[in-house]
Amino acid sequence: MTTEQPATAAIGDARPRIEGRLKVTGAARYAADEPAPDLAHGWMITATVARGRISAVDASAALGMPGVLGVLDHRNAPRLDPRAGNYFGPDGSLLLLQDDVVPYAGRPVVLVVAETPEQARAAAGAVVVTYEPYPHDVDFRLDHPAARPASTAFGPEADTGDIEVELAASAVVVDERYRTPEENCSAMEPHAATAWWQDGHLHAVDSNQGPFSVSQVLSTLFGVDRDHVHIRAEHVGGGFGAKGLCGPQMILAAMASRSFGRPVRVVLTREQVFLATALRPPTDQWLRIGADADGRLRAVHHRPAFALSPLAEYIEWCTEQAKTLYAAPAIRTELTAVPLDILPPSSTRGPGATPGSFALESAMDEVAERLGLDPLDLRLRNQPAVGPVSGRPFSSRRSVACLREGARRFGWAGRDHRPRTRREGRLLIGTGLAATCFSAGVFPSTASITAEADGTFTVAVGATDIGTGARTALTAVAADTLGVGTERIRIRIADSDLGMAWGAGGSRGTTSWSFAITQAAAKLRERLGDPARPVTATVDTTALIDYQPATERHTFSAVFAEVSVDPATGEVRVRRMLGMFAVGRVINPLLARSQVIGGMIMGLSMALHEEGVRDPATGRQVNPDFAGYHIAAHADVPDIEAEFVPDYEPQDPLGLNGLGEIGTAGTAAAIANAVWHATGVRQRTLPIRLDRVLEAEGAEVRGAVGVA
Ligand code: MOS
Repeated sequence: MTTEQPATAAIGDARPRIEGRLKVTGAARYAADEPAPDLAHGWMITATVARGRISAVDASAALGMPGVLGVLDHRNAPRLDPRAGNYFGPDGSLLLLQDDVVPYAGRPVVLVVAETPEQARAAAGAVVVTYEPYPHDVDFRLDHPAARPASTAFGPEADTGDIEVELAASAVVVDERYRTPEENCSAMEPHAATAWWQDGHLHAVDSNQGPFSVSQVLSTLFGVDRDHVHIRAEHVGGGFGAKGLCGPQMILAAMASRSFGRPVRVVLTREQVFLATALRPPTDQWLRIGADADGRLRAVHHRPAFALSPLAEYIEWCTEQAKTLYAAPAIRTELTAVPLDILPPSSTRGPGATPGSFALESAMDEVAERLGLDPLDLRLRNQPAVGPVSGRPFSSRRSVACLREGARRFGWAGRDHRPRTRREGRLLIGTGLAATCFSAGVFPSTASITAEADGTFTVAVGATDIGTGARTALTAVAADTLGVGTERIRIRIADSDLGMAWGAGGSRGTTSWSFAITQAAAKLRERLGDPARPVTATVDTTALIDYQPATERHTFSAVFAEVSVDPATGEVRVRRMLGMFAVGRVINPLLARSQVIGGMIMGLSMALHEEGVRDPATGRQVNPDFAGYHIAAHADVPDIEAEFVPDYEPQDPLGLNGLGEIGTAGTAAAIANAVWHATGVRQRTLPIRLDRVLEAEGAEVRGAVGVA
């Protein structure tokens, strides 16, 4: 491309994020910071019944209050096209203010619009919504009468060998249930959108993970051409899945802006984020694992159930690990969906893999316990040569490297595998590990690269940087693929006008966008024979992607944890954690490490703190705020080590795989297994609350003194 070679390759270099200074100085503008002339503000009212219909909306008092421009509800809101949907099909959660039906508590039912947010909020308090409640059902469990097979849109379930025969022939069988609660993504930035219409075009700055897909949804909802919808998401304060779809803030801001002919901003409160955006569904997972006396697995039967809403199909894909991690003559998975009257679930970091790994890796630890084996050896003994269900080879499988190198760094050797053998004063000390994997791949995206007259390059791709450092990583990718230094790269992202692109999700953002950039760079190189500048090359990778690859493609990890448990208070403290990751080639070790450590903190938080509690009587979440819904704070987080084993994904031109979610997936089981090692009692329900530990300690003490 050029005769000057950059001093160092940018890929592999630990560089700080490009927009870091903008963020720490407050100059970075988020969706709620976008200035707009004549801006009005919308305030959302959410339903208080879990199922029913709206019998009346009395806005008369609100309409007379200062600054109020109007009140939108199902009687006067713009009509939306019900064909709008998500990846799985039509999605009723998008169809806000269209009818009097209340499908879940927290459903937005009214938007009050006023000159200031304070006026809108005050007026919202004066709107009286009356409901006719219907009976509701939020009683989640695996054996719920409405339980049905989940969608197989992510691939078929497994049924190899004869599960019952293999279980009957096993020396030990673990047959247990594992449960995880509702969880919330808890991104630091609450959902917000600022929207306006101009000449039939919809413009918005929105907090989301994929401006292009949001523009597609809005195009269908409002019946306007896709290229008349312009969505930007320049800076996003975390997403973790809850901003993966078109959120209520965006739909309501677009509606109100159309109705009132002014720019409208809608910013959710933390409570509204909990009640009205997305949740990780609770899971109830039945696992049976049978093994020979020498630790060879004979059977893995995983039957996880998750909750969803009848409004929208969804997959909490808990069965990938049971189909991928270990070899066994019989493997059966049965992913089960239970429709309930709850906020429609959506992806939360490591959807499915995270609760699924907790169950599988807890059960594996129980197999090791019953056999008196080192849990590390049990895992090493059952490594598959090819996909245990698919029979296809792995493109890169560095699971053993993660386990062995992690064990070495953590100091696993010499561990007494019997529980309740380590004490420090009154504290019980334990260690645990868990392995896991996460699906990897690439999705279609578009990239344009312009060689400018001044020797710099403008790289445009509809990527989103939700705090991951994507902007910085893609700059390095562009620099290396063009053969120039990063100072000659100008990157533009986060705008639906930049063309079709996958969002920041599924751990596939950077891989998908980088693939488009490498292809655009190759095309540009061909064109640069012509000395006339500027020259632009654009590539849409849709036709270049192999959707039926001949190999299994996953990332792998091993997480090790050490905990202390205070038997008097039930308090569990994680004292240290180490994660080893095989994620393909690492573009930027600084940002990658930060990403997986953040993931591990989320896993720690899941293990010990997070629990969305739903009141069966009202169907409402009772703790929709950070006072009632606990997430790990700084004081809960110990020194965490995270390292990468050398890895290279052969299916990718740069060797990349993805690392957005694997940090979260393996962590909760490692901590739960460490708690067992400390106390001798299994914690099969998350989070591992003080009362659960105390109850177990009570049983332990009663057992020790011989009372029932
Ligand atoms: Mo993620 S849960 O793939 O946004």
